[in-house]
Amino acid sequence: MKNVILVIIAIPKETKDRERRVALSPEIAKELIDKGFTVHVEKGAGLESYFSDSLYQDAGAKVIGDRSELFSSADVILMVNAPLETEVALMKEKAVLISFVFAATAPEVINACEKAGVSVFSMDAIPRISRAQKMDALSSQSNLAGYKTVILAANALGKIFPMLMTAAGTVKPCKVVIMGAGVAGLQAIATAKRLGALVEVSDIRPETKEQVESLGAKFIEVKGDDSIRTEGGYVKEVSADFLAKQQELIGKHVAAADIVITTALIPGKKAPVLITEDMVKSMKMGSVIVDMAVEQGGNCVLSELNKTAEKYGVTIIGESNLPSLLPMNASQLYARNISTFLLHLADKDGFKWEMDEEITKGSLLLHQGKRVHPTVS
Ligand code: NAI
Repeated sequence: MKNVILVIIAIPKETKDRERRVALSPEIAKELIDKGFTVHVEKGAGLESYFSDSLYQDAGAKVIGDRSELFSSADVILMVNAPLETEVALMKEKAVLISFVFAATAPEVINACEKAGVSVFSMDAIPRISRAQKMDALSSQSNLAGYKTVILAANALGKIFPMLMTAAGTVKPCKVVIMGAGVAGLQAIATAKRLGALVEVSDIRPETKEQVESLGAKFIEVKGDDSIRTEGGYVKEVSADFLAKQQELIGKHVAAADIVITTALIPGKKAPVLITEDMVKSMKMGSVIVDMAVEQGGNCVLSELNKTAEKYGVTIIGESNLPSLLPMNASQLYARNISTFLLHLADKDGFKWEMDEEITKGSLLLHQGKRVHPTVS
């Protein structure tokens, strides 16, 4: 079945605290306009990513100053973060929202969309299959975040990364320990290596060993046990016993490190504690920890959300929105992800609503207000 509608896409300015990204770049807006879509952009929506209103206008988009008008006139709303409930209430019935939703953490947005009769596709729920790689915003943003962790750590450390042999003496290379070798961790490894550090890495998925070694880093082997459950490349569960054993094993590597970067996550659960207070105490004065899992409770017990804290002489960075610190690249990549996704789901005449197709089925939370995804039912 095909809904015949004239597709007006709206790009609101993101309002979440510390958010500098925008869902569509002028370049990708132009591509969608060339395909027959109409694009409305809120005034100033791209400014924090260094995309001026005139760049969008040159691309053929209409710049709208009134946020209510923007929401109420759109057939499709593309965002980075989910809108507020009051903004959902402005949307047309049967409008389609596409953004990161993280449904489990946003019941009030889901309720508002149900009430408004809106359809919702969640960027974080797109299945991670090879066909959907170009739509995978979790990966594109994690990749940038992994890079930025190393730059933040390098900036906070009173040392350089590479070995340096000079007439004034030899400087030893800096030691970086990275916990978690998913998308962000692998980019952090590559970045730290490029800067000349010695890099050691730990992950509990055994298949990561080869990936880590191929980047020239050393793998810290922590033998798994029966409590570790993995599914589709993700860790689903680990026991407290295992975590205690892991902390003991990685303790000496952490104590010897100049920088520790933690990226370990368990989807839908609190992040595992990898760095205890005693481990922080064991670190050298002037060392740096960057905790990428801080929003999910933190891999380090002492990290504080959106703060850089100093504990026992160690700088602990708890920045929650790392991709937003690289807004130009983050918005460019997100725009490519979301436009590829939109073009998979719709053309200028409307949405295809192929309900049994894998990408649609995996990412559609609500269809015209009706809850259709297990995470929201
Ligand atoms: P993530 O952000 O959920 O987790 C980060 C890392 O933390 C993972 O490597 C995980 O094994 C590790 N971890 C969890 N508990 C740990 C502990 N106690 N100690 C040490 N490490 C721990 O993962 P991300 O980066 O989103 O990707 C994870 C998987 O998804 C990988 O298998 C990756 O290859 C796969 N993937 C597949 C894609 C595709 O096929 N299109 C695209 C992107 C990722």
